Amino acid sequence: MTAPRHFLTLMDLTADEIRSLITRAMELKSLRNQGLPHKTLEGKVLAMIFTKASTRTRVSFEAGMTQLGGSALFLSGQDTQLGRGEPIADTARVISSMVDMVMIRTFAHADVETFASHSKVPVINGLTDDYHPCQILADLQTYVEARGEISGRTVCWLGDGNNVCHSWMNAARLLDFELVVACPEGYEPDAELLSACGHHVRIERDPAQAAQGTDLLITDVWASMGQEDEQTARANTLAPYQLNRQLLDKAAPGALYMHCLPAHRDEEISTELMDASGTVIWQEAENRLHAQKALMELLLSD
Ligand code: CP
Ligand code: NVA
Repeated sequence: MTAPRHFLTLMDLTADEIRSLITRAMELKSLRNQGLPHKTLEGKVLAMIFTKASTRTRVSFEAGMTQLGGSALFLSGQDTQLGRGEPIADTARVISSMVDMVMIRTFAHADVETFASHSKVPVINGLTDDYHPCQILADLQTYVEARGEISGRTVCWLGDGNNVCHSWMNAARLLDFELVVACPEGYEPDAELLSACGHHVRIERDPAQAAQGTDLLITDVWASMGQEDEQTARANTLAPYQLNRQLLDKAAPGALYMHCLPAHRDEEISTELMDASGTVIWQEAENRLHAQKALMELLLSD
């Protein structure tokens, strides 16, 4: 039996694979919009393990599997024996003997790695404390749909150097664009990852300077899941990094802005930008469905 192909970070795909995946995601989107069948994963089963909350990830994977002719089962960490201490490795051996693919959303990235190393089937990272690669597939699709190729562009991340930021950093080095991370001291992305990204990623303290002339502005919540206790302190420090009209006006003409959602309106992003008629934020959320359908096809194609 050949080793399964996992998707734990964006680095598990090549730049060419990401480009083909986006093309396929756009094709799948068009098939669905036309009501045409695309049951390429007939009879396949996806197990979804969640130890953190989710709206988009859960719905997009479950609906996506159904639309591809397969099915998905939701396993909450608490309700399985995982929540009572059954080792991750044992759980991986058992679950992967019964299903065709596993998606996991949890805290420690090492837990997803442990699961993958004991799994007979592909494992997808549906968000960990360190990475959120599925989100970036949808974000890249959204950029390509609206503006074409992202290579050579400049992207500005605003706020906390978190899991979503880390996955954007991987995208910058894979697809060869510049990412400027605007954050205050103490909120930088992981130092090792930063150095691995070389000239593709740099830190800038002044948000207005960072936004200047960029093609895409991105932000995310200031307190991620698991950091709820730090909400007030984070909101105070990160307030100058709010994505709003003033900052958008500094970006290049026609610049886009994104947010993975859920958003805290008037914290990391203004209500005005959330509700602006030209925003791609809702398209970005929908694209989770299409990009992940393309991802599941790719992982099961080997
Ligand atoms: N963006 C995202 O992953 O949303 P959920 O937390 O709702 O899945
Ligand atoms: N950074 C956020 C993303 C939510 C989709 C979190 O980890 O909570």
